[in-house]
Amino acid sequence: MCGIVAYVGPRDAQPILLDALSRLEYRGYDSAGLAILNGKGVEVRKKSGRIQELASACQQKPVQGQIGISHTRWATHGGATDINAHPHLDASGRLALVHNGVVENYLELRARLVGHGHKFVSETDTEVLAHLVGDAFAASKTKGEEKLVEAVRSAMKQVQGTLGIAVIHSDLPGLVVGARRGSPLVIGIGHGENFLASDTQALAPYTNRVVILKDQEVVALKAERYDIASPLGIRSDIQIEEIENGVATSDKGPYPHYMLKEIYEQTSSIQNAFRGRLNPHEATAKLGGLNLSSHELRKIERISILGCGTALHAGMVGKYLIETLAKIPVETHYASEFRYGDSPTSPNTLFFAVSQSGETADTLGALREAQRRGFPCLGICNHVSSTIARESNGGVYMHSGPEIGVAATKSFTSQVMIFTLLGLLLGRLRSLSASHGQEILQAIESLPQKITQVLDRSDETKKVAQKYAEAKSMLFLGRLANFPIALEGALKMKEVTYIHAEGYPSAELKHGVIALIDKETPTVLIAPRDGVYDKNLGSLQEIKARGGRVIAVAHETDAKIRDLADAVLPVPETHPLLQPLLNVIPLQLLSYHSAVALGRDVDKPRNLAKSVTVE
Ligand code: AGP
Ligand code: GLU
Repeated sequence: MCGIVAYVGPRDAQPILLDALSRLEYRGYDSAGLAILNGKGVEVRKKSGRIQELASACQQKPVQGQIGISHTRWATHGGATDINAHPHLDASGRLALVHNGVVENYLELRARLVGHGHKFVSETDTEVLAHLVGDAFAASKTKGEEKLVEAVRSAMKQVQGTLGIAVIHSDLPGLVVGARRGSPLVIGIGHGENFLASDTQALAPYTNRVVILKDQEVVALKAERYDIASPLGIRSDIQIEEIENGVATSDKGPYPHYMLKEIYEQTSSIQNAFRGRLNPHEATAKLGGLNLSSHELRKIERISILGCGTALHAGMVGKYLIETLAKIPVETHYASEFRYGDSPTSPNTLFFAVSQSGETADTLGALREAQRRGFPCLGICNHVSSTIARESNGGVYMHSGPEIGVAATKSFTSQVMIFTLLGLLLGRLRSLSASHGQEILQAIESLPQKITQVLDRSDETKKVAQKYAEAKSMLFLGRLANFPIALEGALKMKEVTYIHAEGYPSAELKHGVIALIDKETPTVLIAPRDGVYDKNLGSLQEIKARGGRVIAVAHETDAKIRDLADAVLPVPETHPLLQPLLNVIPLQLLSYHSAVALGRDVDKPRNLAKSVTVE
């Protein structure tokens, strides 16, 4: 969840840590801290609030030293206070540790340590880990750097849960030890300096050469070298990967917020999702990364889609697309439910794990559960080389570029595009005709230009947003493939405005939700002219009859809706299967403009983090 950065080299650590940490702030932002070895001991600065608070504290009282660790926190145990911020020290005060994850048995471990005379200053689970490593270090007879590596290993054996950690000790002034179980960590390789980070994005200005740490591995990181070992022994087959330098692309450019920038980027991100993947000659799609032959793809009898939040909503649109185009039954699962549930799996099921970050703990857990049951699981990820992308048996990259805004926008439309391509490919291997395939291909190709048309009307959406932003509660309704769009619209609204919002299939209205309708509770109704258009009009009338106000997402040429609804968010017409991709965009804009009207922190809404790497 949080971000970790560590540095060892010849340069001053403080500015590097602060700068790299600021690139990770989207991962967690309730407090931040750093610890640097200053030649005499460990010096810590930590502050609740944004990294800017930490930067000011460091400016007032700088810390000198060339080796350090740092952290931006997303609190799981203990409030967002200065004291609970990381790094945490051990009992000797000579060891500092930052942690991403959760120590599940921390109460038991803490009670045992208190019994041995340990004193704790914070409420976090992490402090227990610092004390455990410190105890093992003090008790160890090993000499030199191996001593800290061993101490980390010993602590890892005692803790249950997930961890990505970085540790320094003032007895070993040139060494950072990092370790991971569940949470991601990468080594950044510089010239005479090395880095450790929970995300390659942190390292973009410093190096593009990285080594991804595997689960259960521990790294001893020094300025000139790094040694990686798992419980099975030293890793000798180290592969250095070159990452794309993300600095330029992660700038806000002329946009006031990343969310708005990313909404506007959809014209190109959608193209990146289908570029090189269309095969007009055979009226199908080509997805090389699936690692499955046509013969194997034909044998699939069911599909299960795993994901969380927005990624799951994309999967729900995917279900509709695949069932319609390929006639293969599809189930969608909240990854968090699937991993612990008893839900039966039929033979010949193909799984998909959908995740922008590729690091979401619940989705990773569900992927591992599907694989443990013996099923192939493919990934649909944005982050190249993320854990889910690596552990999948194949998959499709989204190529959306970095998504920094905590509210997912462009990743959603790219995921839906990938499901469109999958539906087309699987459909053409079954009964879908070439002419139907061609229609889909043509619709895909004309989509970017239609997205531009929606974006060009952003100001109209802004006016609607300003009018309705004071609402305490909102309903979002849609049917069939637009039901997940209603869910996604409601999620976006909740995330960035804190307005309570519910997404429902339109027809469910009369089964209870209608009780919520009044003048103060606007309903967003997604009602393109499709097979359920008349049904949606019925819902609209029912709402109006009860004094409710309706904001309709409808075709720009639809005069009937314009007469009936209180406001219209117009969208151009496209192939009905692709219409949800256009319908979601005014909803993203509606939540964005409402959040701005309410003065919310759009890119970093309260309580959230971009990548949820804890359970
Ligand atoms: C989306 O706006 C949310 N921030 C959240 O629901 C997100 O989609 C979810 O946590 C899954 O993230 P992932 O795609 O990185 O796995
Ligand atoms: N569980 C730890 C805490 O609450 C770490 C949370 C994080 O990953 O940021 O401090």
